[in-house]
Amino acid sequence: MPFLKECRTLALIVATTTAVWAQAPQTPRRPGGFVPGQARPTGDPAQIARGKAVYGISCRSCHGADLRGGDMGGPNLLRSQLSLSDRDGEKIIPVIRGSLQSSGMPAIPMSADDSKAVATYVRSVLATIGGQGKPPSAQEPPTILVGKAAEGKVYFAKMCAKCHSVTGDLQGIATRIADPKALQNAWVAGGGRPGRGGPPSPKRQVMATVTQPGGQVVSGPLLRIDDFVVALEMPDGTSRSFRRDGDVPKVVVQDPLAPHRELLPVYTDKDMHNLTAYLVTLK
Ligand code: HEC
Ligand code: HEC
Repeated sequence: MPFLKECRTLALIVATTTAVWAQAPQTPRRPGGFVPGQARPTGDPAQIARGKAVYGISCRSCHGADLRGGDMGGPNLLRSQLSLSDRDGEKIIPVIRGSLQSSGMPAIPMSADDSKAVATYVRSVLATIGGQGKPPSAQEPPTILVGKAAEGKVYFAKMCAKCHSVTGDLQGIATRIADPKALQNAWVAGGGRPGRGGPPSPKRQVMATVTQPGGQVVSGPLLRIDDFVVALEMPDGTSRSFRRDGDVPKVVVQDPLAPHRELLPVYTDKDMHNLTAYLVTLK
């Protein structure tokens, strides 16, 4: 009964954070005077509980239940200088929005409130545990080959086969990507790291279609998009930009790897381990 289990976990989270809260030393707050290693104001317990729940869904698979790093390649956040220097989400939230995409941390879509809550939760753990983490020997992730290949095969047929085939595009994938961890990252982290050595393969190219108010339609590889501007690559290699004002012009973005990211919150650690165990047999 996953739902009941969620409820129980949530109750437990609230209970534990409240207990930690009650024990926290009454350190006087010094506005703007954060010194690394000292207890810091952490945030309100309800927000921390919410952040912990969000963390469990969106971050735990990569950064581990205890933030010490997961078996899917996220680093130990307890030793992250970036997280240690975060005061109010200003360092962590840009990472969630995708600022480290090029080195393997995908952008994770979530509301502003949820990202604030998750940043508060990370800070609260850092404040209670301290910034050292454990000695490296204590946090070696277990081998990722703990799953059952047969169950992975069933899962593959259900979740992946509509786009992939083990006798087609993924034939010999375990030979091409020999390291099991890299193999797992090839799909888990959104499907390979963008921006390494030249343009992405056409199969991974993010495309955008811009429909201007007059009805003119322009489409091409997406070069850049934010709230104010969208830029596309034109067939002659030049770039063409459009100023954005809310929904004008209409922009539709197609990211071939979006399905991988959408699957991220869907599968469990067990599914992932089973799948990896299966994929490594595809030599
Ligand atoms: C698919 C795996 C994955 C998921 C899911 C993920 N991360 Fe990460 N994260 C990474 C990787 C890989 C890096 C290292 C990027 C780098 O080296 O620049 C990283 C780096 C970070 C950093 C910076 C650490 C540092 O000091 O450089 C923070 C903070 C962080 N992640 C927070 C989060 C939070 C919060 C979530 C959930 C909302 C999350 N991550 C979800 C993989 C992931
Ligand atoms: C809706 C379509 C879709 C679904 C569903 C999907 N993928 Fe993908 N996947 C892609 C696309 C598109 C690419 C990029 C194509 C490429 O680079 O060959 C890709 C790339 C990959 C790669 C890297 C291939 C390589 O040669 O480097 C692996 C591994 C992978 N997917 C595994 C999976 C697994 C495992 C699942 C199921 C959990 C899955 N995918 C579900 C569309 C999908």
